[in-house]
Amino acid sequence: MMLPKRYTCGLISLCLMIRCTGGNERCGASIRGACPPAWSQWGDKCYKQLSENLPWAEAKQECIKIGSVLVMPQSQEETEFLRENLSIWFWIDCNDLEGSWECRDGTTDVVYTDWGRGEPNNGHREDCAVVTDSGVWNDVKCEDRAPVICKRPAPQLQF
Ligand SMILES: *[C@@H]1O[C@H](CO)[C@@H](O)[C@H](O)[C@H]1NC(C)=O
Repeated sequence: MMLPKRYTCGLISLCLMIRCTGGNERCGASIRGACPPAWSQWGDKCYKQLSENLPWAEAKQECIKIGSVLVMPQSQEETEFLRENLSIWFWIDCNDLEGSWECRDGTTDVVYTDWGRGEPNNGHREDCAVVTDSGVWNDVKCEDRAPVICKRPAPQLQF
């Protein structure tokens, strides 16, 4: 009796991205790999929510320990992806511990903001920021505990 053929397929997800610069024949290409297990992918970024809610400074440290940075969404679309797929509210890498608000994605300053009406109001010495459960930003005490989402780039192979 003939046994049916069986196929074993590994799960490999690769996206080929080709970028060409305008008015120029040269293109750069890169292969974008899948995020590591337990990380969610959105475009060329990977995200992971930590198992515990933490104060802001600890949140930053814990993300760094796993080779990533505290999340800092740069658009409404990115925020919606995170709220729908990871956590309805979470810390973002924004603080005014030095007197003016600074938001950073890793080491890059971020210009996108989405403060709620009347925020940030520094209500009770509130120097750190969250995306609230209604989706806009609010300043809260850095010692508060909030969900933590870490971000890292998806693996890329340039050629
Ligand atoms: C949540 O993730 C799923 C699967 O990746 C995606 O299809 C969906 O668009 C995401 N939600 C948002 C709001 O981006």
